[in-house]
Amino acid sequence: VPLSNLGQKELLFKFLIIGDYGVGKTAIVRRYTEGKFSSNYKITIGADFAIKTLDWDPHTKINLQLWDIAGHERFGYMTRVYYKYALAAALVFDISRIATFQSVKKWLVDLREKITLPDGSNIPVVLLANKCDIEHSAIPNEQIVKFCKENSIGSWYITSAKENVNIDEAIRYLVENVIKTR
Ligand code: GTP
Ligand code: MG
Repeated sequence: VPLSNLGQKELLFKFLIIGDYGVGKTAIVRRYTEGKFSSNYKITIGADFAIKTLDWDPHTKINLQLWDIAGHERFGYMTRVYYKYALAAALVFDISRIATFQSVKKWLVDLREKITLPDGSNIPVVLLANKCDIEHSAIPNEQIVKFCKENSIGSWYITSAKENVNIDEAIRYLVENVIKTR
């Protein structure tokens, strides 16, 4: 065993990426794990996942499993299976399509109905207002803030998978939250 590995912990965290079709979930996962972006829309069927390993601190390595759930899957019978053992979720909407913000509530209700932590509490959720490179949001910030408050969403970020805005920060927020409650 190399000296540097002594006393090192290796953790596995499963996170969900959810939200309506076309909001940019796959693009966010790709940006985060591969550092790439493509403007082609290739619909996700069922679910996909990608892994990124984080050297969190000198004692902790985190294998982050990101489950990219198809937007069309919301009420599909598989979601319960996909959600199992998830420790946190990023809920994404597209600032250029108001309907995707209106769907956030349904995703959240469905998520919380399907998954709770072993102690009965809700998993941490971060809300991502994606595609900020396109235009100014049609949804006022105050409305998003109010929504998060009323629905116990810990934090939200304006993001762009295309221009790599706040993706790392949002995932980091979730990792910190999960670590804090372990
Ligand atoms: P489903 O798999 O159907 O649930 O959709 P999805 O949420 O995975 O969407 P996806 O990541 O495939 O992105 C849909 C389209 O939006 C693609 O054409 C992406 O290139 C584009 N897109 C995603 N994120 C951004 C972004 O931040 N900015 C811009 N301009 N386009 C984006
Ligand atoms: Mg997808």
